[in-house]
Amino acid sequence: MSVTQFKVEGFNTFYGRSQALRDFGFELKGGEVLCLLGRNGAGKTTALQSVMGTVKPASGQLMLNGENLFGLPAKEIPRRGIGYVPQGRRLFAELTVAENLEIGLQTRKAGREVLDYALDLFPVLKERMDQRSGTLSGGEQSMLSMARAMCVDPLVMMLDEPTEGLMPSAIASIREALVKLRASGVAILLVEQRVDAVLPIADRVAFMDHGRIKAEFGIDEVRNDLSLLHQYVGVSDKAKA
Ligand SMILES: Nc1ncnc2c1ncn2[C@@H]1O[C@H](COP(=O)(O)OP(=O)(O)O)[C@@H](O)[C@H]1O
Ligand SMILES: [Mg+2]
Repeated sequence: MSVTQFKVEGFNTFYGRSQALRDFGFELKGGEVLCLLGRNGAGKTTALQSVMGTVKPASGQLMLNGENLFGLPAKEIPRRGIGYVPQGRRLFAELTVAENLEIGLQTRKAGREVLDYALDLFPVLKERMDQRSGTLSGGEQSMLSMARAMCVDPLVMMLDEPTEGLMPSAIASIREALVKLRASGVAILLVEQRVDAVLPIADRVAFMDHGRIKAEFGIDEVRNDLSLLHQYVGVSDKAKA
């Protein structure tokens, strides 16, 4: 199987007259984790929503394995193999765990083996299939949101601050799942605000500010020179330790 090639180019997105993305873009291959870092309001969520087509960029290109998906209706984007874990999880709270996962499976008519794979990443969900998702803990909701995105059988997976507000044990589960996903060849875009949340799993780090990518580094460059982080995001000394 060939390696997934994903490329976002020249996204300009507006809310009314205010421009939230400015010539935004990145490239990503299957089996890679690119972390998008930036302060609150930098445009990270808008970038992901612009890819998903739920927010419409005024211009851009969205290439997945040589095909331009730009401008397709929002419901088509997951069908083409782009999984998305929105900020704040966005589950159907009244639906059960099983029903939330079924929605993911239906998106691309994925088979049961895709569901089994997702559940094996998060075994805790297997015990809660009939529970309403609104009653899950924050960590379980995050895992369900990620499992639902996995049920699309994605080539590309984009996650918007999936560890926000979670306890360390839940953060570790999410991280382990991402490592397995990467090993299976999925291209992963991980949005976070804190660099210490991504250093252990990132292959590359891109810094976003005022709607554009300001700089991008390989993870070894960042590890060798943590002062880079200070230049691009407000990082506390604690995060450096
Ligand atoms: N629905 C919206 N309507 C108007 N402005 C928005 C909307 N969503 C986000 N913005 C603005 O766009 C900018 C980028 O926001 P966002 O993409 O949420 O950033 P981040 O995810 O990096 O915190 C901010 O200035 C924000 O206020
Ligand atoms: Mg955001």
